[in-house]
Amino acid sequence: MLELVTLRARPDLRPQLFAGALESLWPEFMQRDPTAMLYFADAHLDCYLDTAFAIIDPVAPDAAVGRAFAVPFVFEDLPDRTELPDAGWDGVIRWAHRDRTLGRTANALSALEITLLPERRGQGASRVILDAMRDHARSLGYRHMFAPVRPTAKHLEPFTPIGDYVRRRTVEGLPTDPWLRVHVRAGGDIVKVAPASMVIAGSIAEWSRWASMRFTASGQIAVPGALVPVHVSLGQDHAVYVEPNVWVRHSIG
Ligand SMILES: CC(C)(COP(=O)(O)OP(=O)(O)OC[C@H]1O[C@@H](n2cnc3c(N)ncnc32)[C@H](O)[C@@H]1OP(=O)(O)O)[C@@H](O)C(=O)NCCC(=O)NCCS
Repeated sequence: MLELVTLRARPDLRPQLFAGALESLWPEFMQRDPTAMLYFADAHLDCYLDTAFAIIDPVAPDAAVGRAFAVPFVFEDLPDRTELPDAGWDGVIRWAHRDRTLGRTANALSALEITLLPERRGQGASRVILDAMRDHARSLGYRHMFAPVRPTAKHLEPFTPIGDYVRRRTVEGLPTDPWLRVHVRAGGDIVKVAPASMVIAGSIAEWSRWASMRFTASGQIAVPGALVPVHVSLGQDHAVYVEPNVWVRHSIG
C-alpha cells in the first residue's frame, strides 16, 4: 500500500520529485506554463510544504515512487470566487498566490497533479493517493477539495471537443476516460470543463523545441501529448496551446 507524505515531513525526498523519471515523463511543453512558477519555483514551493507530497512505498521509504501536489485557496467567501475558474489549473494557482500574498486564510484545497512511476501504474494506487489527499485536506480543516483533472486518454484524440469527450460514458455510466473514472469512482462530481486551464505560448522556434517537431503550416496542429491542437501562426511567429481540464469536486465531509 503506497503512502502520501508531505514535503514538510520528508524534505529529504524533495529533490527526487524533480529529477529522473518523475520529471521527464511530462512532455517538455507541459513544463513551459509560466503560471506554474507561482507554485513550483523553490521560494513558492517552500510555502506549500504541507500540500506537496512524495508518494512512497513503506517497504522502501527512501525512494519516491510518485509525487502529488495541491494548493490551498479561498473559495466562495469572496465575491469573485463563487464559481471555479474557467482558467482551471492556472487560475487556481493564481488565486492561491494572491491569497497567500494578501494573508488570507484558505478554506479549500485543489489537487494539481498526481504522478506515479510507470511501473506503479495500473494497480489501483491512484485511488489510494486520492483518498489520502482528501483525508489530508480534512485534517487541515479545509471545507472543499477540487481537482482540475487532466484526462489521461484525451491526447489520443486531440480534435474531439472536450465537452463531447467528457460526456462519454461506459455501460456502467462512468466516464470512459480512465483518470476521470478514478475520480468519479472515488466519489468526485464533475462540475464543469475548465476550457483554458493551462495556457502555454511561445515563438515558433520555442514551440519547435518544446514539441520536438517542425511547424510547416499555420492552423490547428496536433502535437504528441497535447489534449487539443496547438494554434500555430507562422505569419505571426507564435504558437499557443490552451489546454482544457475538467473540474471535479470531492466531498470531504
Ligand atoms: C493518472 C495516474 C496517476 C493513474 O494512476 P493508476 O494507479 O495507474 O490508476 P489505476 O490503476 O487506478 O487505473 C485507472 C484506470 O485506468 C485504467 N488504465 C490503467 N492503465 C491504462 C492504460 N495504459 N490505458 C488505458 N487505461 C488504463 C485502469 O484499468 C483503470 O481502469 P478501471 O477504472 O476500469 O479500473 C497514472 O496513470 C499516472 O501517473 N499517469 C501519468 C501522470 C498523469 O497523467 N497524471 C494525471 C494528471 S495530473
